Amino acid sequence: MTLLSITDLTVHLPGAARPVLDSVSLHVGPGEVVGLVGESGSGKSTTAKAALGLLPPGATATGSVHVADTDVLALTGERLRAHRAGPVAMVHQDPRAALNPVRRIGDFLTERGATRSRAVELLEAVGLSSPERRLRQHPHELSGGMLQRVVIAGALAAEPRLLLADEATSALDVTTQAEILALLRTLRATRDLGLLLITHDLHLAAAYCDRVYVMYAGGVVEQRTAEALFTTPAHPYTRGLLACSPTLGESHPLTPIPGRPPSLSDSFKGCPFVSRCGEAEESCETAPPVEQPLEDGGGVNCPVAPVVGRRSAWRNGWAQPKMPSTETTKASQG
Ligand SMILES: Nc1ncnc2c1ncn2[C@@H]1O[C@H](COP(=O)(O)OP(=O)(O)OP(=O)(O)O)[C@@H](O)[C@H]1O
Ligand SMILES: [Mg+2]
Repeated sequence: MTLLSITDLTVHLPGAARPVLDSVSLHVGPGEVVGLVGESGSGKSTTAKAALGLLPPGATATGSVHVADTDVLALTGERLRAHRAGPVAMVHQDPRAALNPVRRIGDFLTERGATRSRAVELLEAVGLSSPERRLRQHPHELSGGMLQRVVIAGALAAEPRLLLADEATSALDVTTQAEILALLRTLRATRDLGLLLITHDLHLAAAYCDRVYVMYAGGVVEQRTAEALFTTPAHPYTRGLLACSPTLGESHPLTPIPGRPPSLSDSFKGCPFVSRCGEAEESCETAPPVEQPLEDGGGVNCPVAPVVGRRSAWRNGWAQPKMPSTETTKASQG
C-alpha cells in the first residue's frame, strides 16, 4: 500500500502566470525515505503541504492527493483538522518557531495529546537524556539539536504514518544534522513511517534517501533511486545541480547553472529549463516535456536526457560527483 500518493497535482495561484505545481506525481510507501530536492521556489514545500490539505490561500487544484485511503483534497472542517493532527505530521527548519518560549517542553507534548508518561517515552524515543527533567525545561534551556528532537517527539505524539521533514536539519550544525537524520531513519525502521525529506542538499538526499524526486519550476523533472540519481543523473538540471555541489575529496571545478529559476510570473510553452540548459534542442522551446521511463525504473522529463544520461556520456561531459559514504550514517544510527 502507498502511504502518500500524489497524482497529476496541478495548483494555480491567483495572478500567477504559471501553476505553482504542474502535474506533480509522487509516492511514498511505508518504511520508505523519499527525498524532494530542487532550488528555492521550485515547489517542494507546496507539494509537502498538499499532503496536509494545506494549499496557499485562493489556490485551485486539480489531480489527487491521497494519504493511505484518505482523499485529502476532499477533506473539510473537522475531518481536515483530524487529518492534520493524525496520520501526517510535518517538521520544519526552525524548531524555535514551533515552540512557545514561555511554555515548558512538557506542555508542548501534552498539548499534542500525550500523557506525562507518554511524553517521557517520546523524549526517550528521540534520544533525549533525562527526559523527566526536560519536561520541566523551557526552550531557551535546550540547544537547537535538542529542540528539533523535541519537535520530532511532538510530531510523533499522534502516531503519524507519514512524516514530512521540510529542511528539518538545514539550520543545524553538521554533526547534529547527521544525528537527527539518523534518528529519522531509525524511526522509519522501528515505526514503519514513510518519510518525505525535503532538502536543497543533493548529497544529503543521496546519503539518506531510498528514492529522490527532483523538482524544477513546479514540476518533477527526474525521479530515481538515490544511487541511480548520483551515478547516472539523467536530466540536464540534475546534472547541473550535482556539478555545482561541492563534494569532499573531489577536486572537480564547481560549475554554476547559468541564469535563475523562473518565478511564478514567467510562463513557458516548452520546457521550463530551456533557457538555462546547455543541451536544449529547438523543439524544447515549444514542446512541453513528458516523462520518459528509464531502464532502471526511474523517469525523466526530458527528451534529450535518456540518451545523454548514460554513464559514459555523463563521465565525458560533466564532473562526476562521488556518492557520499553511508558508513557514517549507519554508524551513527546505533
Ligand atoms: N501562500 C503563498 N502565496 C503566494 N505564493 C506562494 C505561496 N506559497 C508558495 N508560493 C510561491 O510558490 C512557489 C513555490 O514555493 P515553495 O515554498 O513551495 O518552494 P520551495 O521549493 O519549498 O522553496 P524553498 O527551497 O525556498 O523553501 C514560490 O514561487 C513561492 O513564492
Ligand atoms: Mg520550502
